[in-house]
Amino acid sequence: MNLKGQVAIITGGAQGIGRAIAHLLAQDGAQLVISDVNLEQARKTAEELSSSESKCIAVQANVVDGKQVAEMADRAVKEFGRIDILINNAGITRDGLLLRMKEEDWDLVMNVNLKGAFHCTKSVLPVMTKQRRGRIVSMASVVGVMGNAGQCNYAASKAALIGLTKSVAREYAGRGITANAVAPGFIDTAMTRSLSAEVRETLMKQIPLGRLGTPEDVAAAVRFLVSDEAAYITGQVIHVNGGMLMP
Ligand code: NAI
Repeated sequence: MNLKGQVAIITGGAQGIGRAIAHLLAQDGAQLVISDVNLEQARKTAEELSSSESKCIAVQANVVDGKQVAEMADRAVKEFGRIDILINNAGITRDGLLLRMKEEDWDLVMNVNLKGAFHCTKSVLPVMTKQRRGRIVSMASVVGVMGNAGQCNYAASKAALIGLTKSVAREYAGRGITANAVAPGFIDTAMTRSLSAEVRETLMKQIPLGRLGTPEDVAAAVRFLVSDEAAYITGQVIHVNGGMLMP
């Protein structure tokens, strides 16, 4: 899978799943923009991955802020001259039962997980349209499809992200741009490390493959979706969940 000469933006690329995606795309020769609110960590990741085959830069952008996102896309074009791949990966949780959920926790999760993808997609589409080629992959979640008690805001944001993905797929297929979502199950990252041992134990029982996923498990699906081999796949949700849900 050769991405030589291609340019990828990965939001939330500083750590976790985003970092694992950055790793694989760098291996395939892509030039990378590691975009994150956490500039220090993004810089560390970009430095780690920069090589003679793959130049990586770190850019600080909060995906909630349309202006920062537009500047991030401009920077990518200034630095590399094109944008071939966007990975909408930045995401957060603010869990709680609905009756106790604060309005600001609803808004924050919706803004980062959904509006963030809207801003980022909008900022790269003019460039991809001109190139008549582009790959957009958004990080949904198994709970966006099956729901989860205590995650009304998060599940709603991820379900909506799937709707956004399918609509973008329909709007831009004619311009050579594909849009797909990857829906991970429970993946071993900072996001899930805060779960109690008891919750992890219960989760494990629901996973036929008997383990949490790794960031690399998810990154492998993304690597395929951005490759030339996936040219005829658009508007799809690829589940990476150890069999936890078989939709
Ligand atoms: P993580 O918490 O390890 O990493 C998320 C990254 O996003 C961090 O580097 C953080 O600084 C960045 N970020 C947060 N808010 C941001 C903002 N407003 N603007 C720009 N960057 C921001 O999370 P993880 O586990 O790597 O998750 C990545 C994606 O995968 C998220 O969208 C998450 O919802 C999704 N996902 C994760 C699952 C899991 O079990 N870990 C399961 C299903 C989906």
